[in-house]
Amino acid sequence: MRTILVANPKGGCGKTTLATNLAAYLAGQNQRVAMWDLDRQKSSLDWLALRAAELPAITSLDADRNEINPVIPDNNDWLVLDSPAGIHGKNLAQALKLAHKIVVPVQPSIFDMAATRDFLDRLMEEKAVRKHKAFIGIIGMRVDPRTRAAATLEQFLKQYDLPILTYLRDTMVYVNAAFTGKSIFDLPSYLAERDLTQWQPLIEWVET
Ligand SMILES: Nc1ncnc2c1ncn2[C@@H]1O[C@H](COP(=O)(O)OP(=O)(O)OP(=O)(O)O)[C@@H](O)[C@H]1O
Ligand SMILES: [Mg+2]
Repeated sequence: MRTILVANPKGGCGKTTLATNLAAYLAGQNQRVAMWDLDRQKSSLDWLALRAAELPAITSLDADRNEINPVIPDNNDWLVLDSPAGIHGKNLAQALKLAHKIVVPVQPSIFDMAATRDFLDRLMEEKAVRKHKAFIGIIGMRVDPRTRAAATLEQFLKQYDLPILTYLRDTMVYVNAAFTGKSIFDLPSYLAERDLTQWQPLIEWVET
């Protein structure tokens, strides 16, 4: 089983949007996918509860967020971990221990970048990251790559030598899909053409 952690302590940067869409993409590839929502707000679980039975199935992992050693059934191909704003300390260490890939959404504002700095410092210190056993992928969230904001984000990330895998635009497509427990991968492709294209580099990175 491969585990993807979606994390950034900055609130509202797009973690749940990424986690739910990733899980739905993988489920749509006939993979067995479980989601574990570490967030007390349970946004991913709320989304899962809205998901129709005829859509590609995602199992919800019923584990307590404070459990140190959650029982993770190994009959899944993927585990997608959504994480809460403000994650740090023991909870972060536990989530990092499980992760093979860490997806970090960052919005290109001065507030978001400042709030992400300590987190990225912490990630770069993680043993698995240093030993190339866990990999970090940054997503420019709600941003057009041709803007000055995107250039500022790239400049900020240079110090970490972390490439931006892709930029996802600001669009109601994600918001509307989520209302019915869907992802962009569950929509007729003409409704999400640009978004499906933007996801391609992220999908390739996750699958390799
Ligand atoms: N690319 C996008 N385009 C438009 N809206 C978006 C996009 N990504 C996220 N949103 C919206 O922004 C809000 C915050 O996103 P989301 O809940 O995914 O962030 P989060 O990091 O999980 O937040 P929290 O830290 O509270 O858990 C939501 O209303 C979501 O629908
Ligand atoms: Mg969330």
